[in-house]
Amino acid sequence: MTKKSILITGGAGFIGSHVVRLFVQKYPEYHIFNLDKLTYAGNLKNLTDIEQAPNYTFIKADLVDAVAIESLFQKHQFDGVIHLAAESHVDRSISNPMDFVMTNVVGTVNLLNAAKNAWKADFNNKLFYHVSTDEVYGSLHDGGFFLETTPYDPQSPYSASKASSDHFVRAYHNTYKIPVVISNCSNNYGPNQFPEKLIPLFINNIRNNKPLPVYGKGENVRDWLYVVDHARAIDMVYHKGKNGETYNIGGFNEWTNIDLIKVVCKTMDVKLGRTPGTSEQLITYVTDRAGHDLRYAIDAHKIMRELGWEPSLQFEEGIEKTIDWYLTNQQWMDEVTSGDYANYYDNLYGNR
Ligand code: NAD
Ligand code: TYD
Repeated sequence: MTKKSILITGGAGFIGSHVVRLFVQKYPEYHIFNLDKLTYAGNLKNLTDIEQAPNYTFIKADLVDAVAIESLFQKHQFDGVIHLAAESHVDRSISNPMDFVMTNVVGTVNLLNAAKNAWKADFNNKLFYHVSTDEVYGSLHDGGFFLETTPYDPQSPYSASKASSDHFVRAYHNTYKIPVVISNCSNNYGPNQFPEKLIPLFINNIRNNKPLPVYGKGENVRDWLYVVDHARAIDMVYHKGKNGETYNIGGFNEWTNIDLIKVVCKTMDVKLGRTPGTSEQLITYVTDRAGHDLRYAIDAHKIMRELGWEPSLQFEEGIEKTIDWYLTNQQWMDEVTSGDYANYYDNLYGNR
């Protein structure tokens, strides 16, 4: 058994909480430190089932605070970093781009500096794993798929900030020889996702009989992956990925928004015992998102071929599990939609 101390950032968020849970439960010999600022998207209730585990420690900290991050690396001897913390929602990046520059760019560079300083005497058995998004590749208009070699072409302030952070990670690898891996994943769905993103937002609105705001004509295409399958991929990349490499992760599961929304509506009608077609009546076409990327689609053959990963769930099963989770965890939803959520919602959707 190899003992390791691993710092996971953003572990109170959606994907991070699934990664923390997987590592805490699967690797009792590791100590998992979860660093999170607990922004509106961070929620320790996502981790109540493992918070008492002896191999788990939560650290509240802001990645933008370079001094605090540096001192954490002096205090704990981390062997690895899995960096998920980020501002993650495109619509928020359109209204507040600087938040994305600070956390996603400055925060990532602070983390790289702290790791470099702590590890520079001996990079052996150290790893900085940066978790990124397919959105860095831009928007597909003429068919095809994103490969690891596709040139970066970010189109939103969010994807520009993630692209920038990816470049810094590669630059630190090239310049200072920090061992790194990067993965770029497609859209995730599943339990614990904050209801600003399409699927949990629409589940919550259907339950509350509120309009379903479909941007533009609903023709944009996304490639959806169940969050636990992303966490499993992250485990494989962390343990088997090659130093300096990038791995694309995706579900080979493309849907236009409108078709996906209709699946959610139909499933919700069944679950809520409503007459078929009831939820679809809530669909409301609204003003499109500025600069809305048309299509994302990942070619995930490299991680399948080289690391043996593959998605475990079919979409129909995944979406049903997801809807069941939100319906049985209504208290979670009520808590995260209290407070500032109403203001956020009115500002974004009020004038569309
Ligand atoms: P999320 O918004 O649900 O969670 C982000 C977490 O980061 C929160 O817990 C938040 O409190 C924390 N955080 C934010 N700013 C911080 C700061 N300055 N210091 C410390 N912690 C901070 O995000 P998510 O959807 O779980 O995404 C996690 C990562 O995966 C992100 O890097 C994102 O770019 C990437 N990603 C997400 C998706 C997706 O579909 N959600 C797809 C591909 C990649
Ligand atoms: P989202 O979940 O925000 O993820 P991303 O923009 O990172 O892909 O949005 C998924 C798709 O759904 C995207 O094409 C925008 C669209 N969308 C709507 O039509 N209405 C909404 O209220 C939201 C939040 C998204």
